[in-house]
Amino acid sequence: MNPDVKQEAKLRETIRQLISQMTNEEKAALCSGSDFWHTQPVERLGIPASMVSDGPHGLRKQPDEGNGDHLGLNEAIEAVCFPAACATACSFDRDLMFDMGQTLGKECRAENVSVLLGPAVNIKRSPLCGRNFEYLSEDPYEAGELSAAYINGVQSQNVGTSIKHFAANNQETARMSASSNADERTLREIYLPAFETAVKKSQPWTVMCSYNKVNGEYASQNHWLLTKVLRDEWGFEGYVMSDWGAVRDRVKGIAAGLDLEMPGSGGINDQAILNALEDGTLDQSTLDTAVERILNIVFRYEKGRNEGGQEKFDRAADHKKAAEIAKQCIVLLKNEGVLPLAKEEKTAFIGGFADAPRYQGGGSSHINAHHVTSALSLAPEYGTVKYAQGFSAEADKTDEALSAEAVKTAADADKIVVFAGLPDAFESEGYDRTHMRLPDCQNALIERLLELGKPVIVVLHNGSPVEMPWAGRVQGIVEAYLCGEAVGEAEMDILYGRANPSGKLAETFPKRLEDNPSYLNFAGKAKEVNYAEGVFVGYRYYDTKNMDVLFPFGHGLSYTTFSYSNLRVEKKSESGRDGMTVRVDVTNTGNMDGKEIVQLYVAGRTDSVMRPAQELKGFSAVYLSAGETKTVAMELDERAFSWYDEALHDWYAPDGVYKIRIGKSSRQIELTCDVELKGKMPKKPYIDADVMIGDLLDYPDTKQYVDDTLIPFLSIFTGGKSLDECDEMEKSMLYYMPLSSLRSFAQMTNEKIAEIVEELKERVK
Ligand code: BGC
Repeated sequence: MNPDVKQEAKLRETIRQLISQMTNEEKAALCSGSDFWHTQPVERLGIPASMVSDGPHGLRKQPDEGNGDHLGLNEAIEAVCFPAACATACSFDRDLMFDMGQTLGKECRAENVSVLLGPAVNIKRSPLCGRNFEYLSEDPYEAGELSAAYINGVQSQNVGTSIKHFAANNQETARMSASSNADERTLREIYLPAFETAVKKSQPWTVMCSYNKVNGEYASQNHWLLTKVLRDEWGFEGYVMSDWGAVRDRVKGIAAGLDLEMPGSGGINDQAILNALEDGTLDQSTLDTAVERILNIVFRYEKGRNEGGQEKFDRAADHKKAAEIAKQCIVLLKNEGVLPLAKEEKTAFIGGFADAPRYQGGGSSHINAHHVTSALSLAPEYGTVKYAQGFSAEADKTDEALSAEAVKTAADADKIVVFAGLPDAFESEGYDRTHMRLPDCQNALIERLLELGKPVIVVLHNGSPVEMPWAGRVQGIVEAYLCGEAVGEAEMDILYGRANPSGKLAETFPKRLEDNPSYLNFAGKAKEVNYAEGVFVGYRYYDTKNMDVLFPFGHGLSYTTFSYSNLRVEKKSESGRDGMTVRVDVTNTGNMDGKEIVQLYVAGRTDSVMRPAQELKGFSAVYLSAGETKTVAMELDERAFSWYDEALHDWYAPDGVYKIRIGKSSRQIELTCDVELKGKMPKKPYIDADVMIGDLLDYPDTKQYVDDTLIPFLSIFTGGKSLDECDEMEKSMLYYMPLSSLRSFAQMTNEKIAEIVEELKERVK
């Protein structure tokens, strides 16, 4: 046995010994927090309390025990605020996510925090969700890959993570009681895979269940979710904690797989657990298992802490890291030759966000930021800038004097940069937006500035897409999202070309809210939220409908240019089902070094089911000096071609030809090629009296039966011809004909039909 495995086994044995010495009162108490942020200690047995803290893009450690809150209200220690997930997702860069996670893990160690509450990976179903800023993407593959990298980074420091909010928590309206109603295919293909990938690739120490119900049952007591899918299917090994206050029926919850209740219930639920043990509604082994899972993590952290030594929280160094990360997240949405700015150009900075940038969102992730920089404060180091506030960054209030001053300042400049965005009150944890517009005062001022006839560049600070009525008339748009406390350095480096933009949108910007596929069902009525758009979320919908959007998923410009060539696919086996490597050469054809995000979409539309026109199944961030070429390799497995078949309760990729599409965005596909999957038996049809003749023709053994036995009865449709000789109409009539209709069309008795059903069942056994 290798020494690590041996040590791990020894630790597990010690934990079992401890459990055997614990009273049921102590066990029940351990299954909920001792206060807002700590697990329960058992001093007589040497079981320490363990601290957890938000997360995800910085450390929100509240040192004062009596003063904890989950809304970001009370004071936390000063910490470094990294870009929020809406921004980091635009990096499409696994290494960057790992690096940020690693830094956060070190900070946690320095502050003795055992679990960082993040990442938050819920899918951006609607641009209106108030918490989109904290979530990664509208695409589950991207969210899964990036969160796995982040988790591996944090956990490399022997600090745990809590991937959240499991699951289908895609709105803030009635978030503590609404039911997210989605069919299984939609859950499996869209709302669960980010969690699945993270569990399989990074084993987060903990998972946080969400507040909402999933198909009528609270996530906190949903056995299907917390045990069947999470543990039995995916192999999750850590413990599940509740979101803060998400527990409804504690006993049902623990039996469903919810190990730790946070923050605790003042002892009420401890008693409920004890009562349930007594009256037999809860097994002793279920309680012991929950305790064991919690202690495994508590002691894993303690062991690492004892061995790892003390870490120092170096805020200045981490601020620099936050700046480096932010630069790689900003997305250049539009550039008609106006960026980068030149030092000697007379530039007007307009808008309150230049001086007071919005760099993070409100709620539980709110960091007490160490050192916030603004573009304006750094301007003297970069260029020739004059500033006018124009509008406040805090409210939608037109101030005629401020507007007039802004127009006057701008009139004197060569270029106008408007620092716009959503004020804090427009989007936050706790509520959803009601529209997708910027404050009217900002749109109005942009219109006035456009009248000056000078180049206008808009820099946006927002956690989720906004409508841009002026998008076609401004010359430049920079999406800075909420890019953390080093927002100033990041924006100035991008604007003045000291850094080359490489961010790509992790979500579609629709032209208008009404275009969004969830529009008719967001945020639900009477607490029932029907995910009626199914798997057609984000670009899966817009691309399938070939609908015009403002900016597509994956879009982002650079100051250099890249060309793609030589796409090739190497299958690991003839069938293609054992994986394949897709390679493409990427050349930096411009004059500036830069990073490109190569995206791989699979188009796999089968006749038997509606599928999105294409789905992201690979991406790679590649840094290239000017003139340099590199080969990018991306791996695809069978899952990349599959859809989730509810009848099979499994993933399914039928034989056939699929398209590999390599692009710079979902709408800018540069190279394509075909790849064939083989070797899968077609699906067996489900046999009863209503099975259609067409379904029988899809499967070899039942097709044989149709050819040999049924065709003679079907001459009313075939006119005695063979199937191949039939015309389209005859074929369709036949294909859609249920077996039971032979009663009317072939005067077949019920007994005969039943006999045929039995024979067919034999064939598909
Ligand atoms: C949020 C979680 C957060 C927790 C603790 C909840 O309201 O939904 O994301 O981790 O509070 O602050």
